[in-house]
Amino acid sequence: MDLTYDPAQIKGRTILITGGASGFGAAFGTRWAAAGATVILGDINPSGEEVTARIRQETQNPNVHFIQLDVTSWTSQVNFFRESLRLSPHGGIDTVVANAGINDGREASNFENPKVDYLNDPSPPAPSFKTLDVNITGVMYTVHLALFFLPKNPDSKPCREAASAPESESESEKLLGRDRHILLLGSVASLHPLMTQAPYTVSKHGILGLFRCLRISAPISAGVRVNIVCPYYTDTPFMQAPPRALLAGCPLGKIEDVVDAASYLVADRNCIGRSLVTGPKLKLDPSTGGVGPEYPENKDGSQGFQEREGPVWECYLHDMDPADIFTQRMLTAVHTAVQVRGWFGWAYDIAGALTWPVRQWWNSRSGRR
Ligand SMILES: NC(=O)c1ccc[n+]([C@@H]2O[C@H](COP(=O)([O-])OP(=O)(O)OC[C@H]3O[C@@H](n4cnc5c(N)ncnc54)[C@H](O)[C@@H]3O)[C@@H](O)[C@H]2O)c1
Repeated sequence: MDLTYDPAQIKGRTILITGGASGFGAAFGTRWAAAGATVILGDINPSGEEVTARIRQETQNPNVHFIQLDVTSWTSQVNFFRESLRLSPHGGIDTVVANAGINDGREASNFENPKVDYLNDPSPPAPSFKTLDVNITGVMYTVHLALFFLPKNPDSKPCREAASAPESESESEKLLGRDRHILLLGSVASLHPLMTQAPYTVSKHGILGLFRCLRISAPISAGVRVNIVCPYYTDTPFMQAPPRALLAGCPLGKIEDVVDAASYLVADRNCIGRSLVTGPKLKLDPSTGGVGPEYPENKDGSQGFQEREGPVWECYLHDMDPADIFTQRMLTAVHTAVQVRGWFGWAYDIAGALTWPVRQWWNSRSGRR
């Protein structure tokens, strides 16, 4: 898949990255600071200060900042966005990357193998779900705040308008229409179950669900484009000893491929509702796009696996057809109806909807008499 992008498009943007002290977050920050963006890393781990200092030195970009952030805390998230706005040279936010994520293995094991005596223990403790707190509640907080702040980005245009604008020669004009972009971090666990890792699988399926909800509605309601990257197992501190041992002898994904995919989505305004999977070259069933052990016959009649060309490919394209066209048409129909009938018609319908339970009750009473 061709991921060519123009780094000049990233220059001057203000980009917030949660979980920026390590792995993908730190690698995104390094690439985008080198391209001239203002990068604001938020992380619960104070080592983000050192990472920030390293990126500043490596890229010679002074506009790299660290803000301590616990994504599971609402007040911490509000502070992260407000502080970022203060640090942004143009007073706005162009891109928010909801990247912070964990997978607590002990929690997953406890979930499937309950050890507490729930029958006799007088006050059995609730199981811990930190993975869901960080990966779902944390991301929902981040995305909710992004949907508030991104449309307020000064001089930004709704994403569809910006994507269709003719390219300008002058740098200042190029920067005029600022961006509104949310990038989500899914996983192959968004697409396939990771056995024994139920909370993580649930959380990443949830992020894919969030993406599928927002990919069409956010551009229409807030002019915000939403994309997702779903990496395969990749060599970051996230990969603990057990998955490394299980995958011994198998190739892992490369951080550079994840950074390439994310940079392409960040830089290119035409990327609206795109979902990219990254990983080593995998052998896929071309008829379903699924990753699996043996497929007896490929669509073209050949036997067994087919090798993909590169480490990045698109997923969930089929989803766009029935589900999202329906959503798009529904929203367009609602907007058109509001415009045509005006606010009086809308208010009449709302009043009708609100009084509907009373009318139902009245009708059923009359029917009974
Ligand atoms: N590495 C992989 O194999 C892989 C594969 C698929 C998806 N992912 C996803 O990519 C994202 C980044 O993973 P990574 O590989 O860079 O992992 P990582 O462990 O290197 O980085 C995750 C960062 O999130 C931070 N974090 C954890 N809890 C936080 C909280 N409450 N508030 C703020 N920050 C918090 C950590 O301190 C850490 O710096 C995650 O969402 C992960 O699920 C990783």
